Amino acid sequence: MNHIGISAGFHDAAISVISGNGDILFAGHSERYSKKKHDAHLCVDIIKEAMKVAGPSYQLHYYEKPWLKAIRQWRAGQKIGPLSVKSIITPELCDHFGDRPIQTHVHHKSHAAAGFQTSPFDQATVVIIDAIGELDCISIWDACYDKNGNAHYTKLWSKKYPNSIGLFYSAMTQRVGLKPMDEEYILMGMAAYGKPSYASRMVNQYIRDLVELDFKFNFHIGLEPNNFLDSVDDMDIASSAQVMCETLVEKVMQKARSVGRSNNLVYGGGVALNCLANRLLGKYYGDIWIMPNPGDAGNSLGAAALGYGKKVYWNDAFLGTDIPGEYPVAKIIKELKKNKMVGVANGRAEFGPRALGNRSLLADPRGPEIKDKVNEIKRRQKFRPFAPVILEEHVREYFTMPRGWSDSRYMQVIATCRHPDLYPAIVHHDGTSRVQTVPKDRSGIRQLLEAWYEDTGCPMLLNTSLNIRGEPMVNDRSDADRFEKLYNLKVVS
Ligand SMILES: [Fe+2]
Repeated sequence: MNHIGISAGFHDAAISVISGNGDILFAGHSERYSKKKHDAHLCVDIIKEAMKVAGPSYQLHYYEKPWLKAIRQWRAGQKIGPLSVKSIITPELCDHFGDRPIQTHVHHKSHAAAGFQTSPFDQATVVIIDAIGELDCISIWDACYDKNGNAHYTKLWSKKYPNSIGLFYSAMTQRVGLKPMDEEYILMGMAAYGKPSYASRMVNQYIRDLVELDFKFNFHIGLEPNNFLDSVDDMDIASSAQVMCETLVEKVMQKARSVGRSNNLVYGGGVALNCLANRLLGKYYGDIWIMPNPGDAGNSLGAAALGYGKKVYWNDAFLGTDIPGEYPVAKIIKELKKNKMVGVANGRAEFGPRALGNRSLLADPRGPEIKDKVNEIKRRQKFRPFAPVILEEHVREYFTMPRGWSDSRYMQVIATCRHPDLYPAIVHHDGTSRVQTVPKDRSGIRQLLEAWYEDTGCPMLLNTSLNIRGEPMVNDRSDADRFEKLYNLKVVS
């Protein structure tokens, strides 16, 4: 029996399929098929692709419990959402699944399973920090396997709505004119340009009890009017919000150390995408695992994992649509030498928000002009840095990794550049980079980096996502063809 996990109805709809043997057969985002960024709904094309691999024998799982969410909405005086999963997914799409029952799982437990059951650990303390689940906004779990290999989760501590670090960060995102639940990563990038002068005032103003994570304010409704941040510079707000976020994340980690028994940390929820705050995790845990898609889209995998019940075989994040063929190493190098940059669309698409080499725009990081060249295509804010992808064995020559992080295979943490003048295109204003390290046992991008290093002596490339402006990442070859035409830049497969 296979297990299909679904997250849909709020933002970033996704489907994952886990086989009866624990293999992840498919995991993809609806947005890549519908071409609507952060599409909250499933679409026919992703359902068909997932069902093709799932075959006729499967069980359906949904990532949260709508009735539990309705309790929170009722208590908070908000509009109560649909109570049945079938009405969330929409009846037309449900037709594809027939009249099978859909098993629902608790939102934060889906996050916990997405992390723990893909992790290398046999037991762990699991920390989940997001905007809101049904009721929980922060939760800490003990996770382990019994002698039959079945996963068990015990909730050790939680903080309920509206005590939410994710909602705080989203409110600050909105305050500086960015899109909440979408552009939090831009706020994080802005933090390097400001001063955190207002961080302690934020803590005093918004937090009642820092140790217990008791908030005075419900950020779900945004900032209150006429607040003290009204006259503050956006960059200083970003910097202060980042420091307050890090202060709160550290408090959660301290709580996790006090209530949990493990030295292994599994961390999930949307706040786990804050790669700046993630540099602090090593102060509390020796071994850290963050599944590369720790937000709600990744909960589709968590729901399927709860259905499967045992450790899932995790190889890498390339789990979506396939563009078959050998990784085009020679073609990429030829284009890099000719044009300094090239698109690549090959193999299975990444599950998660980061392009890791299969749907990437790659560039030669040497020289000062490349950042502007790539920005011409990406047209994004000039202050935002590009990330390097590097042969893992060379990472320490160029970067100082934060404590607890010997590698960064899914671009989940920032590292300090040791020679920021050498490759300025991949260095942020504060002298850090969001590094992707590629180990020896990987294929595709690994062979490319090896060939590039042999040829140039440079062990890294600039790596950013391959997407048409305003659209999600390229999914199939026809998206790649559209990209080529629009930007007159070769995309090799
Ligand atoms: Fe969540």
